[in-house]
Amino acid sequence: MSGPIQAEPLAGTRVRLIPAAVEHVPALAAVFSDATVGRWWPAADPVAEARDHVEPEADRAVWVVEVDGAIVGIIQASEETEPDYRHAGIDLALVAAAQGRGLGPDAVRTVARWLFEVRGHHRITIDPAAANTRAVRAYAKVGFRPVGAMREYVRGPDGTWHDGLLMDLLRGELGDG
Ligand SMILES: CC(C)(COP(=O)(O)OP(=O)(O)OC[C@H]1O[C@@H](n2cnc3c(N)ncnc32)[C@H](O)[C@@H]1OP(=O)(O)O)[C@@H](O)C(=O)NCCC(=O)NCCS
Repeated sequence: MSGPIQAEPLAGTRVRLIPAAVEHVPALAAVFSDATVGRWWPAADPVAEARDHVEPEADRAVWVVEVDGAIVGIIQASEETEPDYRHAGIDLALVAAAQGRGLGPDAVRTVARWLFEVRGHHRITIDPAAANTRAVRAYAKVGFRPVGAMREYVRGPDGTWHDGLLMDLLRGELGDG
């Protein structure tokens, strides 16, 4: 719980989460190049975005998502360390071929459990675009509840601002899937 957050290998039901490292840059660049990912997680330069995620700041931990030996996505956890506001946030993206198979909830549940049990958090947030109905459904399956709309929260690839949906999950609310 103490000390900066640092990714460690984690196993979900079907996903393996491996701490992101330099050798994962090509696989992560492929994730960020996927058009279905770019719609919700725009990266002007996928290789630069990948490099940024294998050398995260001290308040972030990043994993590659592996399924059946192939890297199919990225998931990260970031911590607010101010003691009176302490909580963590999660972001993730899976390539098109890995979507719609329940792998996203598996990965989120795995990181959320680690944040509660190992990092000692009591609250986790996630903030999909309000229009990203699949993401909202996926996170609700894990136990996240909608808090409310954050108006004009995120700029989309079309250059305009879009609403986000703040969702949160408290310790004890994590679903089994
Ligand atoms: C969002 C994401 C993480 C969800 O993970 P996933 O493994 O694909 O999610 P699931 O397979 O559990 O599907 C979630 C739910 O959405 C539903 N769904 C599937 N495709 C959908 C679609 N195109 N539109 C709306 N809902 C859809 C599924 O039916 C499922 O609900 P159900 O289990 O009640 O039937 C993943 O799809 C993804 O990475 N997408 C691209 C990038 C992205 O959007 N990242 C999130 C940024 S916050």
